[in-house]
Amino acid sequence: MTDMVLQIDGKDVTASTGMTVLQAAQQAGINIPTLCHHAQLEDYGGCRLCMVEVETRGRTNYVVSCLYPAEKGLVVRTRSEKVDKIRRVIIEELMAHAPDAPELVKLAQEYGADRNRFEKEASFCVLCGLCVRYCAEVKQKHAVGFIENGPMREISFIPELAAKECWNCQECFAICPTSYAQAAYLLTEALAFPGQRKKQAPAVKPQPHTTFGGIPVIVA
Ligand code: SF4
Ligand code: FES
Repeated sequence: MTDMVLQIDGKDVTASTGMTVLQAAQQAGINIPTLCHHAQLEDYGGCRLCMVEVETRGRTNYVVSCLYPAEKGLVVRTRSEKVDKIRRVIIEELMAHAPDAPELVKLAQEYGADRNRFEKEASFCVLCGLCVRYCAEVKQKHAVGFIENGPMREISFIPELAAKECWNCQECFAICPTSYAQAAYLLTEALAFPGQRKKQAPAVKPQPHTTFGGIPVIVA
């Protein structure tokens, strides 16, 4: 792999061919907020939080850094008035769906986002796809997937597969930024295969709520 030098926030950063701007920034210790990125998964650019300003051949563009390839001589700004404004609106849109998601609450403080700017559509899922992609790419089980399209799009556990695969896994709970994966699974379990539960508590990151959309969730 060939090395190249680009500039991120005024700092010369070395990256290898095939790396994205986000990877180059992370390698250099420069923080770019992300929601749908996971080091073990293929990026798909769902949340747009990682948007940055890039300048190449005299032109400025706004790109999704988890998908945009690092290029020799590229000038990247991870914060600017416009980047912050775009990010603030994205946070506000996401908070219409999941107003209490810990990561979003933290980012809202940092970017001065108003969690009440957009009308609440409390689906509790921000459609980041982490649960779906983790189950497919890492576990290769495909027990949870997206259903419907447009505003009706949501994730759903497939009861037959979930009954077989999920009761002893539940690894997606810990990577879900909103706890909805856990709530959706528990609902599927309650309806389709009640009582089949892993003996030990799943490896879930501590979450601030014990109920989610009226559905009780396990707090580690
Ligand atoms: S359930 Fe969680 S991990 Fe899955 S798509 Fe929704 S927010 Fe993302
Ligand atoms: S982290 Fe890049 S689009 Fe979500």
